[in-house]
Amino acid sequence: MTAAVKTSPSLASQMINGISAIKPLANFAKHQARQMIIKRAEKIGVPWTQEVEKLKQRDWESDFAQVHNPQISYPEYYLQPFHAYEKGDLCWEAALEVEVAAKAVHARIWQEAGVEGDSQLRQSYHDIIKAQIPHSPQDIMDLGCSVGMSTFALQAVYLQAQITGVDLSPYFLAIAHYRSQQRQANINWVHAAGESTGIADNSFDLASMFLICHELPQSATREIFTEVRRLLRPGGHLTIMDMNPQAEAYKKMPPYVLTLLKSTEPYMDEYFTLDMRQTLMETGFHPPAIIPNSPRHRTIIARVRD
Ligand SMILES: C[S@@+](CC[C@H](N)C(=O)[O-])C[C@H]1O[C@@H](n2cnc3c(N)ncnc32)[C@H](O)[C@@H]1O
Repeated sequence: MTAAVKTSPSLASQMINGISAIKPLANFAKHQARQMIIKRAEKIGVPWTQEVEKLKQRDWESDFAQVHNPQISYPEYYLQPFHAYEKGDLCWEAALEVEVAAKAVHARIWQEAGVEGDSQLRQSYHDIIKAQIPHSPQDIMDLGCSVGMSTFALQAVYLQAQITGVDLSPYFLAIAHYRSQQRQANINWVHAAGESTGIADNSFDLASMFLICHELPQSATREIFTEVRRLLRPGGHLTIMDMNPQAEAYKKMPPYVLTLLKSTEPYMDEYFTLDMRQTLMETGFHPPAIIPNSPRHRTIIARVRD
């Protein structure tokens, strides 16, 4: 697969790179960008400040203790800043803002969808996997489940299934735990790396990875696919939903916007240049189906090779 990312930086990109290299300037730029994102979110009907304040009121100690695995060792790539949070996914600030941020970002996918963009994106993925995988899976893993948005969406589609959500951030899982209590949803939350989950062989019929691959270096994606292959039963499927490097939207994106995006997504270049089809075939899957499900996203469906 070829990259959609241009290599020679424009003047605007060079300026952004320059600003990012000077810490006080970068912090100021981040603060301004954050204020703009929050303002815009509230304008389209995502009550960012109110929702985050509500979550801040809760004492999270017990939720955290119930999901946290203190034995875990975090891969180096996961300890980098992500999404303009200095501690990446390993902090409360990021965890408390995941839901509103997803709704705000996905409101831009389809102009007419607005605040419903996030649920439409999830729906477009489920429509494809339901059509491509005719039988209903009994045991499902949501890998990179974060605060549970993708997990609850899967549960709404596969009502009879037992679902396990796996993630490396205990902060995100604490929120997921709370949300599942609120919904009285029976979900097994596992604090583990996708590369070595500690879960038994042949545990799942379906493993879903929704918006995680663009956050991974290529070596981690390969290791995770190998682990998922081990966890899937014969005839099982791995399904992936993420950015589509072939989408016109990325090809037409002004280089400085791409530079801004990349400044908060350290592994985006690695994701854009990874040949998913080849990687899946090399890690024990049949050639996958790759189907666009939004103007910017694609769904990948791969069945395990016997
Ligand atoms: C953008 S979020 C995905 C959000 C979620 N699936 C959703 O649809 O809302 C990516 C998630 O992957 C998790 N993650 C990243 N690398 C991981 C790894 N190696 N193992 C497990 N989880 C990982 C992050 O902690 C984060 O919660």
